[in-house]
Amino acid sequence: MVQTRSRVIVIGSGIAGLIAAVEASRNHSVILITKSNLAESNTHYAQGGIAAVVTDDDTVAEHVTDTLVAGAGLCWPEAVNVLCAEGPGRINDLVALGVEFDRQGETFARGLEAAHSHPRILHAGGDATGAGISNALVAAVRATSTEIYEHTFLVDIATEVDADGRKKVIGVHVFDTAGTRFIEADTVILASGGAGQLYRHTTNPAVTTGDGVAAALRAGAVLSDVEFYQFHPTALAVPGSFLISEAVRGEGAVLINAAGERFMKNLHPLAELAPRDIVARGIQAQMMAQGGQPVLLDATALGESFLSERFPSITAACRSYGLNWATAPIPVTPAAHYWMGGVATDSWGRTSIPGLYAVGEVACTGAHGANRLASNSLLESIVFSHRAVSHLGQPWPEDAPAARWGAQGPLLELELTDHLTADAPAATNDADAARRLATQVVDRVELQTMMWDNVGLARTRTELESTLEQIRGWRPADPAHRLFPDWEDANLLLLAQALTQSALARHESRGGHYRLDYPETSPALARPITIARKV
Ligand code: SIN
Repeated sequence: MVQTRSRVIVIGSGIAGLIAAVEASRNHSVILITKSNLAESNTHYAQGGIAAVVTDDDTVAEHVTDTLVAGAGLCWPEAVNVLCAEGPGRINDLVALGVEFDRQGETFARGLEAAHSHPRILHAGGDATGAGISNALVAAVRATSTEIYEHTFLVDIATEVDADGRKKVIGVHVFDTAGTRFIEADTVILASGGAGQLYRHTTNPAVTTGDGVAAALRAGAVLSDVEFYQFHPTALAVPGSFLISEAVRGEGAVLINAAGERFMKNLHPLAELAPRDIVARGIQAQMMAQGGQPVLLDATALGESFLSERFPSITAACRSYGLNWATAPIPVTPAAHYWMGGVATDSWGRTSIPGLYAVGEVACTGAHGANRLASNSLLESIVFSHRAVSHLGQPWPEDAPAARWGAQGPLLELELTDHLTADAPAATNDADAARRLATQVVDRVELQTMMWDNVGLARTRTELESTLEQIRGWRPADPAHRLFPDWEDANLLLLAQALTQSALARHESRGGHYRLDYPETSPALARPITIARKV
């Protein structure tokens, strides 16, 4: 077994991980671990941009209000204040690190997206913002002393109990071409992103299998808000679900049904720019009313030259499917896009396990509440990565991050039976052995289809219960024979259970969580649901 000593291990190479590595490497020895290559991340595919207040006609207070309203009563105000107030400074950091945002004269060009009271979405390369950020940060991290391990999979977070009886991080177990090994560290910064691959239709790339959230759950960390998944209203209705940025509607494109009617006008005063959950469910209802056919996004009024200049990536993607969106509306459908829930943190990225930070989509800081405001996610990543690194070496309060929700919020317990653990080589007791015999190895497409159908845009108790039942009938492949996809399947299976169990426990509809059997929002439930493994 190879042993490497490092002060800080960063897991993931999206914007949150790259910033964490760049910042931490100024004063610490850093290892950055990523399961694909450095440039492959959800960040790389971000289109619309990054929200921040950068002009005098906009204010941080208005950005805070927009974020709280979109979050549907579930945001943690402290995180929102930090996000919006520190955002502009972090944008300057990105510029200093080489990110070239599009400009209009002397100032940044700014787009508008749903539920923002001002145009404040900075973009790069038109609609290639994520690639612009990712390329600059990959170059920046390569210029530091960071040791980079690509194609290396996070298997588990290692912990031990210290003399005070408190669990703390001691490193990570990883898997690469040489097999499984342990890397020692005092600090692990999880920045491994979300889990769009839980769903049959997603705007996320193949790497988004929630590995960091699953590893944190197995290590005993508390998760929060995992029932809240955001479905983007407009993905191109083709295999692979290519994202059609909300910025397109921000520029004036409209949604029409098969009869050519602008149906969103009847559903919300902001029509196509209503909060995402409302537009996504509006589209789903239209699709059901027209026999499952996708609705159409009509951008033809914007004109060919504007569309190809402002949205070059979308224009190219449409062309690759034989579509010309300058001359005809294109078919769109909702797709899983962003996980509001994740590893619960306080406003310094601290999780419930000392030494373990979580930043970016893997984390639940409380900044997004039940429904993330468009383009706040890249911002959250840079703000909280920067804060986590600035906090390294500071004391870890006993109640981090639980002080955030106090006595509120039920703590659900997820029973990690042997058939759901990623690492158990064999059943450890008779009950687990019997369960293993009775289960089948999980089929990813079946799992994704079931999650889409039963734990997607609209949920009911009956469907959630039948999903849990089905999950209990599956187990991951035997660890001794696993390759990357098998480790990923093990994580998806575990997270599907956590998400479904939390969705079952939330007896209301709010933001990204819609229950047909509880269609109203319940003021009494404006609090996080947390979940941890049963000990
Ligand atoms: C988009 O471009 O519509 C995505 C922006 C986001 O999800 O924040």
